[in-house]
Parts: sequence; C-alpha cells; structure tokens
Amino acid sequence: MILNTLQLARWWELMSESLDRTLVVGGAGYVGSVLVKRLLREGNCVTVLDNLLYNNDLSLHDVIDHPKLTFINGDLRNIDDFSRSLTGIRNVVLLAALVGDPISKKYPDMAHSVNEEGAIALINNLNGKGIDKFVFLSTCSNYGLQDTDELTTETAELKPLSVYAKNKVAVEEYLLSQEQNLDYCFTILRCATAFGTSGRMRFDLTVSEFCREFTINGSFLIYDEDTWRPYCHVEDICKAIITVLSAKSELVNSEVFNVGSDSGNFTKKMVVEEILKHLPDAVAHYKEDGFDPRNYRVSFHKIQNTLGFSCDYKVEDVIPKLVFALSNGMFSDFEDRRNFYGNYEIII
Ligand SMILES: NC(=O)c1ccc[n+]([C@@H]2O[C@H](COP(=O)([O-])OP(=O)(O)OC[C@H]3O[C@@H](n4cnc5c(N)ncnc54)[C@H](O)[C@@H]3O)[C@@H](O)[C@H]2O)c1
Repeated sequence: MILNTLQLARWWELMSESLDRTLVVGGAGYVGSVLVKRLLREGNCVTVLDNLLYNNDLSLHDVIDHPKLTFINGDLRNIDDFSRSLTGIRNVVLLAALVGDPISKKYPDMAHSVNEEGAIALINNLNGKGIDKFVFLSTCSNYGLQDTDELTTETAELKPLSVYAKNKVAVEEYLLSQEQNLDYCFTILRCATAFGTSGRMRFDLTVSEFCREFTINGSFLIYDEDTWRPYCHVEDICKAIITVLSAKSELVNSEVFNVGSDSGNFTKKMVVEEILKHLPDAVAHYKEDGFDPRNYRVSFHKIQNTLGFSCDYKVEDVIPKLVFALSNGMFSDFEDRRNFYGNYEIII
C-alpha cells in the first residue's frame, strides 16, 4: 500500500504523539490536575492513572473530552491498571501518594503500601519499557529539622520526622541506589509546600488553610509560629516538572533538585502577618510545642543554576486573591465536601 502525503503526515503525527505521551500517576490530585492541564495546553498527549481517593474526579471534568487525554481509574499498585496506563508512554511523573503528615499518620499501613512499596514496584516496572524520563515528586519535609541560620541544600543530611517523609526518603534512597540498573533517566524533585488554587483545591496546606480559617472564622490558633518552611505555587511546581521533562538528560539524570525559591521561605508568623494585612480585624493566637516540629529554610540555587528555573508566583501576591475569593463566597461548599478539599480522610 502506498500512502499519499496527507496520510503520511497523519501517520507521522500519530507516531510522534504516541512517542511524546506523558503518564501522570496521581494526575487528578491538587498538583496533578494543574500539571495535566498545563501539559495539554502545551500540546502534549497525557495519560492519567488515578484511583480518585478523595472523590476528586471533578478536578479533570473540564478536560475529560480533550482529544489528547486518556484517563484511567486505577491503583498504581495494581499491575493490570499500571500496564494499561503505560501504552505509548515516553515520560512518567509519579505524584500519587497519601500526601501529607496527617493522612499518612492516620493510615500508616496504606501510606507504606502506596508511598513506599507501590512507588518502588513502579520504579522497577518501568525498566525495559522504553521510558525516557521518570520524575519522582518528593518533599522538602525530608529535611525535618535543620539549622535555620543556613539555607538547606540538596546535600544536607535528611532528617524525616513523619511517616510521610520517611516513606519519601526510602524511595529516594532506593532510586539513587538503582542508578546503574535503571534504563531510563530519573530525577527527584523535593518540592516546597504548595499554595495556590487547583481543580482539586486543598485547604489542608498551610497558606490556604490559614487564609480560609482567618477569612471564614476570623481567628486561628497557630502552633510554633517561628518555624520556617518554604512555599511554592502549584503552577511553579508544575513548571519545574515540565522543565525537567524538557531538559537534556545529562543535566537531570540521577539528580535531586529542591523546587521553590529562596524568597519563598517564611515562618508561620510571617504567613499570618501577610494574611492579616488584608483582614485587619482577624485575630491570631499563638502557642508553642505543637505536634509538628519541622523547621527548615531551603536553598533553591541548584535548580536555578542548573536549569534556569525560577518561580512566577509569590505568596504575598496570591494571599489577597485567595482571601478576596473566600470573602466573596468561593469554596462555600467546603463543609459539605471536606474530603474533596483536603487530605483529611480516605473515603474509598
Ligand atoms: N501539595 C504539596 O504541598 C506538596 C509538597 C511537596 C511535594 N508534594 C508531592 O506532590 C505529589 C502530589 O501531591 P498533591 O498535593 O497533588 O496530593 P493529592 O493528595 O491532591 O494528590 C494525590 C493523587 O494521587 C491519587 N492516588 C493516591 N493513591 C493512589 C494510588 N494507589 N493509585 C493511584 N492514584 C492514587 C489520589 O487520588 C490523588 O488524586 C505527592 O507525591 C507529594 O508528595 C506535594
């Protein structure tokens, strides 16, 4: 059979599409739904594997009929679901997990099974599948408790304090130990705590939680107000993932990058003060010795110097927008749909 020019062009388009397909595991979540839409906007083909743990299908409703999106409702630990989602895949981004200290503490067995065992099995199963790049989303929580007079770099000793961070560190260590055995390029991104809106909004993350509590209730109790943490907009986390997927392999292979910006390091009290600028009648109460001793100020020089990455969003610019939206009735269904709006409880 001889193909005409148009047929050849279509064949080439289909071939290139299937070669450029990215699998986003956990693509219906807070970060995932933003990433998927960004990848689609940039013309990429995307497959999502997600088991909709928080009934969070709403996060992708607006793109579910997109010609370049395939959605698979499945568990990353189920080999059939995972194999189905690998069809035509070139790049894989692993976001799926029980995300955050409270939910992992509440369901430690499931956290271990998904966040550690499931992630390690997935890493092994990618070998020999013609994968180009694998990006593992990790967290700055791995730093735990550091000397905050200095900015913590990627080479600092990891001091995970929670089940969540311990699982993440175990996967990082496994990946790095397998460098010689894996036939694909992998990169570990230790992300700052996210803020900003998403199709699956999370109000259990510090900046958004504080904005909501002060706006809706007028007061909030903050534990350990002088502890430091870096914050990064969810769009900037997705920008970093795409930067890695687009980078030359020799720049990112077997590398660990912190994701965020130096100016995104805030104490909890600094976050509160930013919010109270826009809610002058709200009252903050402070208390020491809370249940979360994490304290770290992080350096983001490596990702900037190696990949030219910088953040587009600032905490202080997004806070007034979120406060304004909340005061104007946005997210008013929070109490009816708590589990959609945060990782409070597993409901499947
Ligand atoms: N949000 C943050 O502040 C932050 C900060 C640092 C790192 N990260 C990392 O980014 C990633 C995404 O976080 P997020 O905030 O989007 O969390 P999220 O809870 O909103 O999203 C996780 C998604 O994974 C899915 N999922 C969970 N278990 C699954 C399984 N067994 N199989 C298939 N899908 C499953 C859930 O349904 C959900 O859609 C995580 O790996 C997290 O560690 C997030």
